[in-house]
Amino acid sequence: MTGFNAPWALSRLSVALQVLLLLSPLFNIFQVVKADNPFVQTIYTADPAPVEYNGRLYVFTSHDEDGSRDFVMKDWRAYSTIDMANWQDHGSVASLQTFSWANANAWAGQVIPRNGKFYFYVPVRANSGRMAVGVGVADNILGPYRDAIGRPLVENNEFDPTVYIDDGGQAYMFWGNPNLWYVRLNQDMISYSGGINQVSVTTAGFGARRSGTNSRPTAYEEGPWVYKRNGLYYMIYAANCCSEDIRYATGPSITGPWTYRGLIMATEGASFTNHPGIIDYKNNSYFFYHNGALPGGSGYTRSVAVERFVYNADGTIPQLRMTTAGPPQIEPVNPYVQQEAEMMAWASGVETEVCSEGGMAVSYIDNGDYIKVKGVAFGDGAKSFTARVASNTTGGKIELRLGSATGTLVGTCNVSGTGGWSTWATVTCGVSGATGTQDLFLRFTGGSGSLFNFNWWRFDQ
Ligand SMILES: *[C@@H]1O[C@H](CO)[C@@H](O)[C@H](O)[C@H]1NC(C)=O
Ligand SMILES: *[C@@H]1O[C@H](CO)[C@@H](O)[C@H](O)[C@H]1NC(C)=O
Ligand SMILES: *[C@@H]1O[C@H](CO)[C@@H](O)[C@H](O)[C@H]1NC(C)=O
Repeated sequence: MTGFNAPWALSRLSVALQVLLLLSPLFNIFQVVKADNPFVQTIYTADPAPVEYNGRLYVFTSHDEDGSRDFVMKDWRAYSTIDMANWQDHGSVASLQTFSWANANAWAGQVIPRNGKFYFYVPVRANSGRMAVGVGVADNILGPYRDAIGRPLVENNEFDPTVYIDDGGQAYMFWGNPNLWYVRLNQDMISYSGGINQVSVTTAGFGARRSGTNSRPTAYEEGPWVYKRNGLYYMIYAANCCSEDIRYATGPSITGPWTYRGLIMATEGASFTNHPGIIDYKNNSYFFYHNGALPGGSGYTRSVAVERFVYNADGTIPQLRMTTAGPPQIEPVNPYVQQEAEMMAWASGVETEVCSEGGMAVSYIDNGDYIKVKGVAFGDGAKSFTARVASNTTGGKIELRLGSATGTLVGTCNVSGTGGWSTWATVTCGVSGATGTQDLFLRFTGGSGSLFNFNWWRFDQ
């Protein structure tokens, strides 16, 4: 816990959201604030890479520093969900410091489980000044990842790896901008055999360049995402810089030959890059991407988002639009077990930080900030609410509201000072009128400055 000592304590996001709220009646952009895409609102994130493990869907992202006017990217973050609507923040899982031979450009990575371990393939700028791909390894999917080999896995000044374990256990890593390369990874996942191979990027495989974008032989730009589904191999990629769109190819093997299949997502959304990640989870198919849709968003302050889609019968992928609603919730939240405060569908004003009791906590909570938890199944009704909090000031209140941040008030918890930002205490208050399945808004009120930190909550019947 660091308390409210960051220079951006009155955060850019918080200020921008408040300005948006004030202007919303004029510009009809209130929906931006209420929607659930982008699904991370506490920081700027990009390059989403989904992976399922033990029934949970994890997404690893890169991280744009607040206020960036260039790619200022120093670490990788993880988020997870079981319902596709509420996302838990797991914080930073690896950074430039993980790789002693790297000094910048923590760009688009991907995690894959194997051999009871987790391997994280990440592009970084090596001390040589060239882009390289490193590999992190961890015993836990959330890390912390350590450098598996102490040097680049490959270094040819190209970047943005994707990894797939093909039938028979042969793993492949593809990467590249402006070219497209692959290696056959050995069983150990940290070395390869057969040298570095270049994919023949043709118009038949990757499409014709859209006129007016930079000169390359085909539409292929960067950010490959490779997988197999129902016997067909897919190569999804960012195309046509800049601004980029997302296109794809399919083939009979992981090394092709590739047949160009067209556009998945057109250029939109205030970021001149985009980056695909596709996964099936709980019998639905999801397309992850990024845009600049948060307040203050741009090509250097991006945000990850997700859409549900259905493959066509022949395996082709329909064209998708960016939405603010995001995918339907798969299952409701159980409020009668302990839930992390940093598990949320939407956050307004707050941030997160490492918690002294483990995991993450919600921090930088100011008067008027709120957290939305989507689809909470109260059933016959909750009788009380308990929260784990810490405050180095005089605290504040947690209002429990249904439907919106100004919706029906079903309880209010007083939080008093606990004597420190990481001196945790449990507070409980009565609840009445919380029945059925409702969107829960935890709204914070109090004086000026940071009110308290918030680790977890629970209702009781
Ligand atoms: C997915 O579909 C299968 C077959 O229809 C079904 O048995 C299974 O319960 C479904 N899983 C989920 C999470 O819905
Ligand atoms: C907590 O409050 C005390 C007394 O006001 C102050 O001296 C200390 O710096 C505060 N700690 C933090 C982390 O803000
Ligand atoms: C909460 O604080 C208010 C004053 O802000 C007080 O009136 C109320 O009694 C407190 N509630 C409890 C349960 O302590």
